[in-house]
Amino acid sequence: MSEHKINVVPRKGNGGALGAGQKLKFHIMRFNPADPASVPHLQTYELEQTAGMTLFIALNEIREKLDPSLQFDFVCRAGICGSCAMVINGRPGLACRTLAQDVGPEITLAPLPVFELIGDLSVNTGKWMRAMSERLEAWCHLKQQEVDLTRLEERMDPDLAEQIFELDRCIECGCCVSACGTARMREDFIGAVGINKIARFRLDPRDARSDAEYYDVIGDDDGVFGCMSLLGCHDVCPKDLPLQTQLAFVRRKMAAQGFK
Ligand code: SF4
Ligand code: F3S
Ligand code: FES
Repeated sequence: MSEHKINVVPRKGNGGALGAGQKLKFHIMRFNPADPASVPHLQTYELEQTAGMTLFIALNEIREKLDPSLQFDFVCRAGICGSCAMVINGRPGLACRTLAQDVGPEITLAPLPVFELIGDLSVNTGKWMRAMSERLEAWCHLKQQEVDLTRLEERMDPDLAEQIFELDRCIECGCCVSACGTARMREDFIGAVGINKIARFRLDPRDARSDAEYYDVIGDDDGVFGCMSLLGCHDVCPKDLPLQTQLAFVRRKMAAQGFK
């Protein structure tokens, strides 16, 4: 089985690598949609960089020491839950896996577009992902109606299991959707994350759906044919999923089966 490392994302900011003690300036988008008096604006905070400071650490320090009203989401701090995705200097990424030294000393943070804004940097990706998954029925449609627990599980070819595992690494962070021009224009576009889900279940030998049934679900302008191959999705995916390959593969398969 190949190894999938979670790397802290090295990305050059305005100044490149910075040392501990360096002053950092955070320009953070503030807006509370629940407050009629709230107006979207950038608010600036200054912090001193510490060794190994991620944006997760920095945001917590800002909230603890400078502004308890700042809203943002974190759960795992390890690139697993996907909840800390935000736009970092214009590019979607995970705050817990981004070092301040790689994006500073001037750091602009904004919430992911496309998703419902809860407040400041916090967005409701769960609502979007759930609606998309329900639309695609992105779960295993078991061939057997009832699972016989007295039988041993059927063996799966290790290479196939590895291929499924590769696509299953998606953490539903929403970065690919936020980086996609089509998703910004088409409210119901399923994005690379949706196409990846269909590709994953199509591979699964336990799933009862035929190729035609899979492709029927994604064979319109809200699915594969809405994708304009902009590939922002592929560039920003923090899990390095092979989105470009999956999109091309699904298109080729659909063309071979007469979908246009
Ligand atoms: Fe995030 Fe990548 Fe999954 Fe998109 S495909 S939701 S960028 S992990
Ligand atoms: Fe969007 Fe990725 Fe297609 S960025 S247009 S889903 S290639
Ligand atoms: Fe879970 Fe960043 S906090 S991915």
